[in-house]
Amino acid sequence: MTDFETVVVETDVLILGGGMAACGAAVETAHWAKKLGLKVALVDKAAMDRSGAVAMGLSAINQYVGLKDGENTMEDYVGYVRNDLMGVTREDLVANIARHVDSSVHLFEKWGLPIWKDKDGGYVHEGRWQLMINGESYKVIVAEAAKNAMGIDNIYERVFITGPLMDGERCAGAVGFSVRENKFYVFKAKATLAAMGGAVGVFKPRSSGEGAGRAWYPPFNSGASAYFTLEAGAEMTCQEVRFIPVRFKDAYGPVGAWFLLFKSRATNALGEAYMQTRASELEKWLPYGKVKPVPANLRNWLMMLDVMEGKGPIYMRTEEAIGKIAAEFKDDPKAFKKKMKELENEAWEDFLDMTISQALLWAATNTQPEERSSEIAAAEPYFIGSHSGASGAWVSGPKDIAPDGYFWGYDNMTTIKGLFAAGDASGASSHKFSSGSHAEGRIAGKAMCKFASENKDACNYDDGEIAKIKEIALRPMVVYEENVGKTTQADVNPHYILPKMFMMRLQKMMDEYAGGVTAQFTTSEKNLEKCLELLAMLREDSEKLGAKDLHDLMRCWESYHRMFQAEAHVRTILFREETRWPGYYFRSDKPSMDKDWECFVNCTYTAKTGEWELKKVPIKHVF
Ligand code: FAD
Ligand code: ADX
Repeated sequence: MTDFETVVVETDVLILGGGMAACGAAVETAHWAKKLGLKVALVDKAAMDRSGAVAMGLSAINQYVGLKDGENTMEDYVGYVRNDLMGVTREDLVANIARHVDSSVHLFEKWGLPIWKDKDGGYVHEGRWQLMINGESYKVIVAEAAKNAMGIDNIYERVFITGPLMDGERCAGAVGFSVRENKFYVFKAKATLAAMGGAVGVFKPRSSGEGAGRAWYPPFNSGASAYFTLEAGAEMTCQEVRFIPVRFKDAYGPVGAWFLLFKSRATNALGEAYMQTRASELEKWLPYGKVKPVPANLRNWLMMLDVMEGKGPIYMRTEEAIGKIAAEFKDDPKAFKKKMKELENEAWEDFLDMTISQALLWAATNTQPEERSSEIAAAEPYFIGSHSGASGAWVSGPKDIAPDGYFWGYDNMTTIKGLFAAGDASGASSHKFSSGSHAEGRIAGKAMCKFASENKDACNYDDGEIAKIKEIALRPMVVYEENVGKTTQADVNPHYILPKMFMMRLQKMMDEYAGGVTAQFTTSEKNLEKCLELLAMLREDSEKLGAKDLHDLMRCWESYHRMFQAEAHVRTILFREETRWPGYYFRSDKPSMDKDWECFVNCTYTAKTGEWELKKVPIKHVF
């Protein structure tokens, strides 16, 4: 590919991604880099103003601890996360984020994010940990602060990161290509942050045909963080912990405001509330079956049991919830009318702030939430370590809290020297959401500056190796160009596979064998082994990926990344011989929870040999 210019960028600290964690890292790094005389660069495959999971905006900030006001303690938050993840969490990481998250929220407000206030000027809570916001422009506001701090010349937008640049066992930067012009980028750095989000599209989506791009998790994040850290040789954790969000059906509208703010019930088609009628099922999953709130996967599970018994569709009883709140005003018709209008506005704004398509679906189906229930359903699995999933890299905790063996020099550094992870990219620290991801990015940013200033020795770069990496990165374009003339129809060709076909093949095997929607989230040893066999063949065929243009080249790499997330997931579910998170996945051959498996499962991939290593890692408690 002689017409692809190679652009070399030399920096000290490199931030990969432009989402919440990356923006947090940017503001913090800019501050410390100035003091320490370090250079910083940030790379996003899209435009920071509207990239990542917060692109459309959000209607709530889901992590606010209220430490200073004495609302809650760090320990309270750790307890909440531990219970929600059925005991499997890194308490030191969760605590570290919990003690810093409020200051990220205060910064958002200072930068102009409108947070709802009550009549006394306090924040309006959605639930114990969540704050209501007018969040349509949330990402624009957070990105503006990051851009101002970094300086626009240090930001590379629309550059897709394909993989790491290594100096032996040390991470020495990253490589990628522009999705707009023929340029191949080589970023050389002392400290690198993987903050490229989680993964969507690993499993077949419920949506089909023209709606296939519609999913809960954003289409932009396709496993780049998981691939990057795996390929670099970093130890990964909780790769089995996928997230299945129950959402308003077909447009994936959020449920938090309905359950927590409006106190809505969800019922089956017969009007039965599964959280009550199925309560005895929770006894099977003790001690976590009895905690409050009931863990997200168990809430899902009770609903799924109803669906499997043919009691669906399942409904969010919006009209009942609104009616109950407004009923308090029933003696004063004017106040009643005003309250109804206010509730109606809040219901629509919840969707318009973060899932516009759900508002469109309501409009298109003549749904007025104050009059009629809406269907909810379990979505296909996603990888999102910052939400109710937990998959990501195994990172160092903070020195002052981390138990023995959980700290190795720099907060949020992976087991690979110079490689850090935050947000969806770091594992076992769930429920950080947008605000906690920003806070974790700040933690990692500060640690990266410390690392870069204490590890000044230059990394070694082999130009021959870089030329080889470039050739592999651009190969799909060559494969396509050389073979497109061999058939009359460009999408059917024995010499290449187009990225869309490749992605669909991956999604089908994951759906059917690894517990997707089609398999009712159920899998087993034999199914997982079959999936691994098919994944190996897919891997062989990945050399034949073909791209007709830069956009397709990005699509090729997205699905190549997804394939690694898929394999880490399948191998880890197979290794964990129990069902710990029914409602996320169910192993029909190991249908119950086993105390011996109350541990982390970590995996490592060795790129040179293609070998995977899996192991149990004990959970060490801090509180
Ligand atoms: P993201 O913010 O998603 O950022 C990932 C970044 O990586 C993006 O800039 C992307 O462009 C970039 N990237 C990806 N691949 C590459 C690549 N190959 N090369 C270069 N760059 C790349 N949290 C709340 O607090 N409140 C809510 O109401 C809420 N609602 C949510 C609703 C939805 C639908 C989703 C999906 C999440 C929601 N969250 C909410 C969670 C929150 O959005 C995430 O926790 C947070 O965005 C995670 O931050 P991150 O930086 O890890 O990933
Ligand atoms: S969002 O990411 O799309 O905003 P969602 O709206 O479901 O997620 O939830 C927002 C917050 O409310 C999350 O912290 C979630 O864990 C919590 N939540 C949602 N439903 C419930 C419920 N029924 N009980 C307790 N917490 C809930």
